[in-house]
Amino acid sequence: MNIPQTCNAVVLNGPSDFSNGQITLPSLKKGEVLVKMAFTPVNPSDLAFLTGNYGLKKAFPVVPGLEGSGTVIASGGGFLANNVLNKRVACSAPAAGNGTWAEYMITDGNKCIALKPEVSLEQGSMFFVNPLTALSFSKQAKKTNADLVVLTAADSALAKMILFFMKNAGIPVLGIVRKPERTAPLETEGFKKVISSSDSDFQNNVKAFTKGYRNVMFFDALGGGSLSYSLLNALPDKAQMVIYGRLDLTEPGFSPQDILFKENIIRGYWLSKEAGRKSLIEILLDVRKVQKMLTSGFETKIQDTVGIADIAEGLDKYVKNMSAGKVLLKF
Ligand SMILES: NC(=O)c1ccc[n+]([C@@H]2O[C@H](COP(=O)([O-])OP(=O)(O)OC[C@H]3O[C@@H](n4cnc5c(N)ncnc54)[C@H](OP(=O)(O)O)[C@@H]3O)[C@@H](O)[C@H]2O)c1
Repeated sequence: MNIPQTCNAVVLNGPSDFSNGQITLPSLKKGEVLVKMAFTPVNPSDLAFLTGNYGLKKAFPVVPGLEGSGTVIASGGGFLANNVLNKRVACSAPAAGNGTWAEYMITDGNKCIALKPEVSLEQGSMFFVNPLTALSFSKQAKKTNADLVVLTAADSALAKMILFFMKNAGIPVLGIVRKPERTAPLETEGFKKVISSSDSDFQNNVKAFTKGYRNVMFFDALGGGSLSYSLLNALPDKAQMVIYGRLDLTEPGFSPQDILFKENIIRGYWLSKEAGRKSLIEILLDVRKVQKMLTSGFETKIQDTVGIADIAEGLDKYVKNMSAGKVLLKF
């Protein structure tokens, strides 16, 4: 096998300053693998990383990209690295150093999962970020005996995965979207109800639908703005809000007395932190559930695949219409 010493990559030189460039590939250390990348998605977390707004910071210059798929073509040795050698894998980026938006990536062998033959490299490139989050939310909802789950950004790729796991758990899901024309199609996909936040009677519609529920869990992708908090205010007392995204970058608009008198709980969720606390057994069980989801016919919608030279156009296309599906980088 010819091991390359350099390769093409997207290089981030500072916040919002990226270009196509070449990176050098150092020799592999024990436990590491070299992945010949096939596909990598653009996720909201990547947009946050590009602009310097993500929870994980890396020294510049750096290759962005948190997850992807490809083939392991070399191993630095050790059981976990050798175990995935010559396999098609889903892979995630190392905690420090270059990420997935490159022709080749060096990562830890334990950050690679061999894909089942039925899972395409396109779908496999989105193995970690959204599926593991959706799985975690279904566990959290079951643990708290939630009788209703509420989602903002209900037309997102992650929301469809959350719906998949909630259906399995038998928990109904209320979706909130900002485009009224998306309510009916999403209800046919299995949401118990979908309400548009642009309805003039939005809060009353939410109140009318949720009034019989006693234990509501609200997973919020927006974080900022006032919509999420007026939604929380319209939910039954004691509803629990889990903020997991910051799609709305404006200042959060809430009144503490609403939260106080309704006895709400508001907390945050970040997969990276949770993943660091998991045992190997828990990780293996989760991975098995994600493989099962991906081999059950579930697919994330893909609107386009672009080459590395067209990254700027690809990002633009994704940002302009996120609900149309993921944009993948193809190597
Ligand atoms: N905390 C964690 O560990 C974690 C893990 C995974 C994902 N996430 C978060 O989960 C969220 C969804 O990710 P994804 O990959 O599923 O995204 P996605 O498929 O790209 O979809 C994004 C969705 O957000 C909607 N949206 C964008 N900006 C909005 C705004 N200002 N107000 C209302 N809706 C807005 C879009 O709807 P329109 O059609 O209306 O534009 C679109 O449906 C992101 O915030 C991501 O960062 C967090």
